[in-house]
Amino acid sequence: MPSEKSVYLPNPSVAKNAFVSSFAQYQEMYQKSIDNPEEFWGEIAKQFYWETPIDINSFFRYNFDIRKGPIYTKWLDGATTNIAYNLLDRNVKNGFGDKVAFYWEGNHPDDYSRLTYKKLLEEVCRFANVLRSKGVKKGDRVAVYMPMILEAVITLLGCARIGAVHSLVFAGFSADSFAERILDCEARVLVTADGVWRGEKLLSLKNICDQSMNKCAQKGHNVKTCIVVSHLGRVTSPSGVQKNRNNKTPMQEGRDVWWHDIVPQASTDCVPEWVQAEDPLFMLYTSGSTGKPKGVVHTTAGYLLYAATTFKYVFDYKPNDVYWCTADIGWITGHTYVVYGPLANCATSVLYEGTPFYPNNDRFWLVVKKYKVNQFYTAPTAIRALMKFEDDLVKRVDLSSLKVLGSVGEPINPEAWMWYYKLVGREKCSIVDTFWQTETGGHVLTPLPGATPMKPGAAAFPFFGVQPALLDESGNEIKGEGEGYLVFARPWPGIMRTLYNNHPRYETTYFSKFPGYYCTGDGARRDADGYLWVTGRVDDMLNVSGHLMSTAEVESVLTEHPNVAEAAVVAKPHPVKGECLYCFITTTDTTRFDDKLLTELKQLVRERIGPFAQPDVVQNAPALPKTRSGKIMRRILRKVAVNDRDVGDVSTLADSHVVEELFASRPVNA
Ligand code: WT7
Repeated sequence: MPSEKSVYLPNPSVAKNAFVSSFAQYQEMYQKSIDNPEEFWGEIAKQFYWETPIDINSFFRYNFDIRKGPIYTKWLDGATTNIAYNLLDRNVKNGFGDKVAFYWEGNHPDDYSRLTYKKLLEEVCRFANVLRSKGVKKGDRVAVYMPMILEAVITLLGCARIGAVHSLVFAGFSADSFAERILDCEARVLVTADGVWRGEKLLSLKNICDQSMNKCAQKGHNVKTCIVVSHLGRVTSPSGVQKNRNNKTPMQEGRDVWWHDIVPQASTDCVPEWVQAEDPLFMLYTSGSTGKPKGVVHTTAGYLLYAATTFKYVFDYKPNDVYWCTADIGWITGHTYVVYGPLANCATSVLYEGTPFYPNNDRFWLVVKKYKVNQFYTAPTAIRALMKFEDDLVKRVDLSSLKVLGSVGEPINPEAWMWYYKLVGREKCSIVDTFWQTETGGHVLTPLPGATPMKPGAAAFPFFGVQPALLDESGNEIKGEGEGYLVFARPWPGIMRTLYNNHPRYETTYFSKFPGYYCTGDGARRDADGYLWVTGRVDDMLNVSGHLMSTAEVESVLTEHPNVAEAAVVAKPHPVKGECLYCFITTTDTTRFDDKLLTELKQLVRERIGPFAQPDVVQNAPALPKTRSGKIMRRILRKVAVNDRDVGDVSTLADSHVVEELFASRPVNA
């Protein structure tokens, strides 16, 4: 295995033609972006269309210091634009109407289609007109619960065209979670599909939406319109059968409408809504350490500049390349690097509906070959899952089109990095380990494929305009080598501006621990060469297969069960998922812990949060390790989870016998 010293140089053939082709060039550009952000981003802004021109005097303003007043960030304030216009009309006007924007690849290999820029523009205009006809206005929120289909992209851009704020919820979240999010953002319109095949599993999305809308209605919030794409009828099911359109999906009169009954008829002329640079473009929920999800708000102009620029440089995207990001559109990666970043660069992308394992475990590689993909972007959890199968599945496929391989979502372990580099990249590709967050809008730490010598597992260096720092517990900056809290000292264009309806929570969550800095919640280490290595969350958050969730939200679900008195959840390392949930519960006096309770608890978490949050282990704990003041010592629980008896100092525990009892009561299969 590579030691920290191992360095892999960018392949000369990648570096030679790259936008940034040496480390010195990266450093020079970086310095300019820090010294003169107006000039750096102003140059980039020129390629986009501004209805009201940019005013250089109000180009960039911010306050990151809570002691000096409210936190805010403004880029290009005063300018007006429309992001859908910039992504579509502008590219069509530049002569790229016939260029393919998306190759859609279905779950079943027999299903595929494509959409050009011109056609995408037409569909977006149609859908935008439909939204307007349903009364949706600038600033209104539209809830979206969709699979990876072309209509998902059309929905996002249709919202953007009329200035409506899209609020996607990953279609793996449960009806309860979706309802909570619809209520929070007060969406009156919902867009979904009847269902989708993922591998051999059928997900009935509309049914889940029905449950969510019912829950909302019980709380006095009525969704007025639900637009449903009839998808199942046009795809091949795993058994090879084509289903009929308008299958058994129940439609509620007056509320639910089929996409195909209203969109194709609509006009392809749609005047864009010119919005302010700082008007919201979308919101996206992310887990908060206190349980209630946070509605991260991104605005228009800065996000456009940042999505476009990171996409161009980090993937080194050239006009004839084909790019593929496997992330679901329901996550920030899907927003920035499936939709906004690629289209802003007039890119051709693959949009894939299925899983890496269907019909066989070589599907990813066959799709790369089929479309001659040049940039491939996926998550460490997928790489680790695919590594388990025989190497020949990768080796026998022609992957020579690949140039850049991306990784996102969690730290990539060196074993997975090497497998990705050697087997998939054939030692000829650059790997970009991109560190970022829902909140950051785009990559903030990352190598550049033609410029940065790679170290397996290091997110390396800041992107242009980003100024990272490592702080110790008392907020002192660690210069040079060392480990600390990863923070940022100033805003870049793509950073979130607020939490929906809750600016105070925005300020306390991200800006109160270290005044003057945006606090990521991650730890990082700087090595002797200045490389940054993200070490993982420093707060009570878990990262299961790249899905971030808080211990608090899982705990509150577990304690909802009438037989559970108390619950504590910790992360346990997992070979494929990165981390998994290890739950400790104490039962109420009269309860016996048995398989029935265990099943019910797992089911409850699936229902309340989603299948991806299902606990791997639930331990019946006699008691939880608490300090005299009643705080649960998670440090000890993390040791119990991995059966490591080296628990350290337990003198602050109210009852130190608990520790022994916890080890004794570990489930046999844990
Ligand atoms: C958290 C953000 C970024 C889009 C997908 C996740 C972890 C993300 C990396 C990486 C180490 C990473 C961090 C971060 N993370 N990328 N390359 N190396 N850790 O977005 O759900 O907002 O999660 O994912 O812990 O804080 P998210």
